[in-house]
Amino acid sequence: MSELWVERHRPRSVSGIKGQRAVVDRLRAYAETRTFPHLMFAGPPGTGKTTAALALARDVFGESYRSNLLEMNASDERKLESIRTKVKQFARTAPMPGTTFKVIFLDEADALTPDAQGALRRIMEQYSETCRFILSCNYSSKIIEAIQSRCAVFRFRPLDEDKVLEMVTDVAHKEGVELDAEAAEAIAHVSLGDLRKAITSLQVAASLGPHVTRELVYETTATAPPEELHGFFLACKEDGFQPARRRMKGILDQFGLAGTDLVNQLHRELGDVTFLDEVQKLGVTEAMAEADFRMVEGGGESLQLDAMAARICMLLGN
Ligand SMILES: Nc1ncnc2c1ncn2[C@@H]1O[C@H](COP(=O)(O)OP(=O)(O)OP(=O)(O)O)[C@@H](O)[C@H]1O
Ligand SMILES: [Mg+2]
Repeated sequence: MSELWVERHRPRSVSGIKGQRAVVDRLRAYAETRTFPHLMFAGPPGTGKTTAALALARDVFGESYRSNLLEMNASDERKLESIRTKVKQFARTAPMPGTTFKVIFLDEADALTPDAQGALRRIMEQYSETCRFILSCNYSSKIIEAIQSRCAVFRFRPLDEDKVLEMVTDVAHKEGVELDAEAAEAIAHVSLGDLRKAITSLQVAASLGPHVTRELVYETTATAPPEELHGFFLACKEDGFQPARRRMKGILDQFGLAGTDLVNQLHRELGDVTFLDEVQKLGVTEAMAEADFRMVEGGGESLQLDAMAARICMLLGN
């Protein structure tokens, strides 16, 4: 793995960003007018926030955009003093010829303490003549109102499965990977709309051989395929505790899952199970939630999972 594929295939222009239609349309308009207000990008991991910030800077300033961009990661620089010093230094020098402002990209801004954010809003005002801020965060609720009101806020969403499919197929093609159609679907399924996770899963699977299959994807991503999870529920319903328990252990071993992973994956699949009615699903959900909570609180995994299987068998058994 000489280079990470997520970096190599990161779109360079805002028009290359997948999905996020509403966001991309507006960013394109900024790129055309070559100016923009302070921006805030909020949304889950791997959906294109950092990509969008860099791409916008490139679209506006051209290939040498780096000299007009100060990139800071708020999780490394939680102390506001270091941010203030850096911003001051950066803002002092003139913008690139032909441009009127510089860009300060503060990645993972939700890692800043409320105090630091309070001070940041002063900085944003002080330098607004010559600098535009782009903040990115996973949770906009962790950013104080005063900062949000200074920014145009953009919300990034998990990508639809078909967009993820498009991207991994494209990357596989460019990297010369033979990717089965079912394997591509499996990647889209396990990535939950996180494109970074999708591309990384592809690279990991491809590092084991040039031909990527569905099984390989599930094994290398520590995800049990839907039919295995459905099989566990079915065993609880039809076969009773011991066989269900054996199935559960088999899944844990084969896919290398921790107890909480298994519970979360079962939870995710439950909606698609056709052989249980609504009331049964309510009970199963409660049993899974209980097991998850107890494991997180430190309850022994093996006992808690057995107890969950026992509960589910009692709920579903005849
Ligand atoms: N919308 C997208 N279109 C195309 N590629 C994307 C998109 N989102 C993510 N990617 C791919 O995933 C990688 C990671 O994306 P990015 O760094 O933009 O995520 P992020 O939203 O900033 O996540 P985090 O919250 O974890 O910082 C990119 O290098 C790119 O390859
Ligand atoms: Mg990011």
